[in-house]
Amino acid sequence: TSSDHSPDVLQLVTSLFTNVIKALYPDQEDFVVSVTPSTHEKYGDYQCNSAMNLSQALKKTQPKVSPREVAEKIVKNLPSSPYVDKVELAGPGFINLFLSKQFISKLISLIVKNGVKPPHIPKKKKVVIDMSSPNIAKEMHVGHLRSTIIGESIARLYQFVGHNVLKLNHLGDWGTQFGMLIANLSEKFPNYLTVSPPIGDLQAFYKESKARFDNDEEFKKRAYAAVVQLQSYEPNTTKAWNLICDESRKEFMKIYKHFDIEDLVDRGESFYQPLMPAVVEELEKLNMLELDEGRKICWPPGAQVPLTIVKSDGGMTYDTSDMAALKHRLVEEKAEEILYVVDSGQAIHLNGVFDAGAKAGWFDPAKIRVEHIGFGVVLGEDKKKFKTRSGDTVRLMDLLEEGLKRAGQKLIDKGRDKVLTNEELSLAKEAVAYGCIKYADLSHCRTNDYVFSFDKMLDDKGNTAVYLQYAYMRIRSISRLTTLTPEDLANHGPPSLEHPKEWKLAKHVCRFAEIINRCLVDLYLHNLCDYLYELATTFTEFYDACYVVEKDRNTGEVIKINVDRLVLCEAVARVIKMGFHILGINTVEKM
Ligand code: ARG
Repeated sequence: TSSDHSPDVLQLVTSLFTNVIKALYPDQEDFVVSVTPSTHEKYGDYQCNSAMNLSQALKKTQPKVSPREVAEKIVKNLPSSPYVDKVELAGPGFINLFLSKQFISKLISLIVKNGVKPPHIPKKKKVVIDMSSPNIAKEMHVGHLRSTIIGESIARLYQFVGHNVLKLNHLGDWGTQFGMLIANLSEKFPNYLTVSPPIGDLQAFYKESKARFDNDEEFKKRAYAAVVQLQSYEPNTTKAWNLICDESRKEFMKIYKHFDIEDLVDRGESFYQPLMPAVVEELEKLNMLELDEGRKICWPPGAQVPLTIVKSDGGMTYDTSDMAALKHRLVEEKAEEILYVVDSGQAIHLNGVFDAGAKAGWFDPAKIRVEHIGFGVVLGEDKKKFKTRSGDTVRLMDLLEEGLKRAGQKLIDKGRDKVLTNEELSLAKEAVAYGCIKYADLSHCRTNDYVFSFDKMLDDKGNTAVYLQYAYMRIRSISRLTTLTPEDLANHGPPSLEHPKEWKLAKHVCRFAEIINRCLVDLYLHNLCDYLYELATTFTEFYDACYVVEKDRNTGEVIKINVDRLVLCEAVARVIKMGFHILGINTVEKM
């Protein structure tokens, strides 16, 4: 029903033009009508430039028709519709469309009445999102943090529009390195069958086991024996492995908790081990494997690099487990879409897996979207790989600690500690710190590398979470000046939108559904951030020009309330809150 959805106005306008053009030029079947938001107010709200291309396409049969004439014909045949105020011709054949105030005003009142609704999507799907995926016995690093933040936001975006999302944590929890680690522990950490070393020590043992493996032939043999025991699920080795996994997971959980990540299902490489032999057999039957120096490799169509499916020692690889995972997600989970939020460095590996899976007939890429959602590396302020001063990798927990400290200092500098209770201050500190880290990541185009800078992300000017939080709180504090309840605003009806700044703000609010649809296509969340930033700046423009609640200069008493504008403010606040929710950020009411 329509009260569950918000219209995508761009889509409405596009189909309006498409229908007319299809009716006027039935032989131009493949013509794609293009409508874009106007770049300037004088060109209306949306612009259709298709008359140019259309007259070009008509050249063969109607060489004398100019773009202007085509545009005139389109305009003349455009049916009147409730969301259009007027349509104007400009230049050589541009068509400018102006939205109707009544329509926009109605949408604003619906937001205040029913909340922010998603655009209608053609089909609700089961979607698997492979995200976060750190490695056991190693510290989760900034790359995994990006995968976690971006993956979570995509999951929320998908849930918002109604998809059924399964978030899978493809943990690196299997492989020869765990045999080495356990062999080392059995010699250096006698309690290894009852407890795991704490996370910091675990990493040191891990590094040490690698060094011993490379330099000590005797240890190497013992490590291999442990690998075999692990692979055959020998009880003691399995016990030690489980303890190590639990210890690491406990550490990861702390991060997920801070970042409000829920329902992330742990399903690491180990889960797929029992499924791999059947996959190898299947690929063998399909003639997709090739012998290469004792290895069994698979060439995905068009690939430059083969997948290694079976190593010369008979062991299987990261490639094999991802093949098994792909099949499991398609066949057992019945996924209708699978997104892998993994650093761009793994593009060749993942695309190889997808292409091989498609060739094996597991899915039809034209019907099921299986896609690598890549992202760039995190850089330090020196534009080099993100490292601590001493050159070590940055521990995520230390990073979050620093974020909290800096956010807290910022609030104290502003004198907020004198206004807020301790509890409020601590909530604000967390919201600012974690919100800023998320927003800084999401507001940059994910495929670019990005420079991690606390100074930039905690700035309260510019496109930052802090700036948006302040805009949100400002609106909230405006409505707190009145005694009107949310119900009062919901029942007030469509606002008048008389002032040009009100009109501009209202139209921007109503673009939310369009932005959501756009994010669904390319999964570039920075477009949502840009939209929210523009919403906040447009709000500021409006607020500078229009009073909402007027107070007496001397007494501070409220003397005048413009309820229409208060309704508009409420709609803005709701859209910011929903936008933030999709970005995984909590809005704060007081800061
Ligand atoms: N554990 C891997 C890493 O840290 C990422 C796994 C990504 N997901 C996948 N299905 N391969 O690099």
